[in-house]
Amino acid sequence: MVEKFLVTAALPYASGPRHIGHAAGVYIPADIYARYNRMKGNDVVFICGTDEHGTPITVQAIQEGVKPIDIADRYHKVIKESFDRLGFSFDNFSRTTREIHYRLAQDFFLTLYKKGYIYERRMKLLYCPNCKRFLPDRYVEGICPHCGSEGARGDQCDACGRVLNTVDLIHPHCTICGTPPTTRESTQWFFKLSAFEGAIKNMLEESRHWPDNVRNFCLQLIEKEGLKDRDITRDMEWGIPVPLPEAKGKVLYVWFDAPIGYISATKEWAQQIGQPERWREYWQGNVKIVHFLAKDNIPFHALIWPAMLMAYGDFNLPWMIPAYEHLNLEGRKMSTSRGWVVELNDFLDEFDPDMLRYYLTINAPQRRDVDFYWKEFQRRVNDELADIIGNLIHRTLSFIYNNFDGKIPTPSEFDEQDKEMIRLIKGAPLTVGKHIEEFNSSAGLKEVIKLARFGNKYFNDKQPWRTLKEDPKKCATTLYICAQLARSLAILLAPYLPFASQGLWKSLNLRGDIHRQRWEAAVELGLKPGQHINKPEPLFTKLSDEVIKKQEGKLQALLKFQAPSVVSEQDFAKLDIRVGKIVRAEPVPKSKKLLKLSVDISGKRRTIVAGLAQHYSPKELVGKEVAVVVNLKPVQIMGIRSEGMLLAAEDEKGPSILTTDRPVKAGARVR
Ligand code: MF3
Ligand code: ZN
Repeated sequence: MVEKFLVTAALPYASGPRHIGHAAGVYIPADIYARYNRMKGNDVVFICGTDEHGTPITVQAIQEGVKPIDIADRYHKVIKESFDRLGFSFDNFSRTTREIHYRLAQDFFLTLYKKGYIYERRMKLLYCPNCKRFLPDRYVEGICPHCGSEGARGDQCDACGRVLNTVDLIHPHCTICGTPPTTRESTQWFFKLSAFEGAIKNMLEESRHWPDNVRNFCLQLIEKEGLKDRDITRDMEWGIPVPLPEAKGKVLYVWFDAPIGYISATKEWAQQIGQPERWREYWQGNVKIVHFLAKDNIPFHALIWPAMLMAYGDFNLPWMIPAYEHLNLEGRKMSTSRGWVVELNDFLDEFDPDMLRYYLTINAPQRRDVDFYWKEFQRRVNDELADIIGNLIHRTLSFIYNNFDGKIPTPSEFDEQDKEMIRLIKGAPLTVGKHIEEFNSSAGLKEVIKLARFGNKYFNDKQPWRTLKEDPKKCATTLYICAQLARSLAILLAPYLPFASQGLWKSLNLRGDIHRQRWEAAVELGLKPGQHINKPEPLFTKLSDEVIKKQEGKLQALLKFQAPSVVSEQDFAKLDIRVGKIVRAEPVPKSKKLLKLSVDISGKRRTIVAGLAQHYSPKELVGKEVAVVVNLKPVQIMGIRSEGMLLAAEDEKGPSILTTDRPVKAGARVR
C-alpha cells in the first residue's frame, strides 16, 4: 500500500550559517526518513526553507549595520549551499519572505481573527530608552524565571526549553546596548491558546507513538501551568504586516508565521510542478505529516502549531514529531556567538559529506545529548566506514576484477555458510527499514554495519585467495555472494550515504539512479552471473592524524580567547588595562615559547610571563609600550609568578603585541 507523507525539517533561521549540530538533530534524520520512504514506493513530499523573520535576523542586521533582507539573502544562500552539499533531498527549499507565504500567513491571521480566536489587548512591554525601541524576543536577555539560568532570551530559555515572555525575565538587559529596559504600553494581538487546552491535551494523550521528550514534556507543561493565550504580534518593521487597518507598525510574531511556511512551501512546490492544487493532498487528505525538529522547537510544534491548525480548521494535525536532543562539541555546549561550532560549509570544504552523515547518524542525539569529538569522528570513519564497509566492498570488487575478468562469477551449490550469508542479506532490509520507520535511523545504520562486518568474516572464513586455485567453483560461489552483498549494501546505504551508495552502484555497473531503486530490491540476489563490473575505486579514504589535529587545533585556539557575546560597560570596567613599558626581557629556561618580561607601570615593576619567544626576540621587546591587564589574579608559570597579561592580536602568523600610537606615559589607563 502506498502511503502519503509530508515530511518537514524545521525551517532554519537565515541569521547565520548552520552548524553540524543542526545537521545532526534535524536535517540528516529527516533526509534519511524521506529518502527511505521514497525507496519504499511511498508518496513523499519533503519540505524545508529558511525562516527569515523575527529578531534572530534583525538583531544580526543591527549588529552588522545592514538591512534584514540582506542578512536573509546572504544566509539563505549559505544555508542552501551547505544543504545541497550534504545531499538533502528537499522537494522544495523555500523562504518565508516569499509572496505566497505572506498571503497564507495573513490569511491564517484573518481566519483566526474572524473566528474569534484572536483578540487585542494593551500590555506593558520592555522598551530600551537608549536604543529607543521596544525589545521583543531576542532583543532582550536575562535570567530565566523558571530555571534560573542566565542568558535566557526574551522568547525562550535554552536551558529548560520553556517559552517565555520578555517581561518575565529577571534582570533583563538590551541585547544590542546592554541597557536595562524600562516598560511601555503597547497594543498587541493575542491567540486564544487557552481555548484549545482540552483538545491539545487529548491530542497528546492519543499520540502514544510520539517520543517522550515531546509527549511527556508537553503534558507536564499543561499539567503545571496550563495553556495561556500568547501574543502573536510585535512592534517591529521587519516581518509580515498584521492585516488589520488599526495595526500599523505591527508585524506577526515569527513563530506565528514560520510554521505556516510548511504549508506555503508545499503550495509553492505544487505550483512548481504545474499542479497547483496538489498541495492539498498533503495537508488535507489521508497523509502522515512528520515534523522533524530540535528539542527547543517542541512547544511551538506540539502545542501552539496544532492549536493554530485546529483554529484554522482545514488541515491535518501532525502525525509525528521526532524531536532531537543536542549535539555538544568536544565536551562543551555549542555556541555560535563564541565560535564553539563547526559550520557545515567549513566542514564540507575538508571532508566528504557522507562521512558527516555517517558519524552524525551512528552517534545521533536521538534520546539524549551526545558529543562530536574529532578523534571519535576519525575513529569511526576509519574503523567502521573505511575498514568495515569500504574494505568489504573493495576486496570483493577487486577480487572479481582481477581474478574473474571483471565479471560476476557463476555460483555452484551453496554450503551452510553461504546460505547463512544469503539469509542475512535477505533479512536486512526489513530490520533496517523497521528502525527507520520507528525514527531510529541510528539503529538501522548499525544493522547495516553488522551485515558488512558479517560479510568480512564470511570473506575471511571462505579464504577465496586459497580456493581460487584449490577449489575454483567454491571461490566463484563465495565471490558471487559477496558481490550480491555489495549490491544490497548499496541499496541499504542509499538513504544514509547518498553519494557513496551511488558510487558503489556505478562500480557494480548498475544503471540509473540508486535512489530510484525499490528498497525491497535489496533482498534479491540481483546481479546476473557474467555481468561486467567497472574498475573498482576505494569508496572512502581514511582520515590522517594531521587533518584531525588541525581541526582540534582550531578549537583549542578558541578556548584561549573565549569571550561572552555581550558584556555591560560595568563588566568591561572591571578590567584594569594600563600602558606598560617593557624594561627587561629574557628567555625562560627550559621553555621554547615563554619570555619573562619586566614591565614598568607607573614606576612599579611587574613580572609578566608571555608566550612570545617564538615570535619576538628579547631585544626587540625592550622599550616597547604595551597594553597590560594589571588586575588579573597572578599565576605561577614554570615557577615564575606572572602578574598580568600582555594584550596581543593573534592570527595564523602568530601574536602581534598591541602598542600605543604615540609615546604615552607608563601607567596610563586603556579603555
Ligand atoms: N527557525 C526556527 C529555528 O531555527 C525553527 C522554525 S520551525 C518552523 O529554531 F516551524 F517555524 F518553521
Ligand atoms: Zn538598547
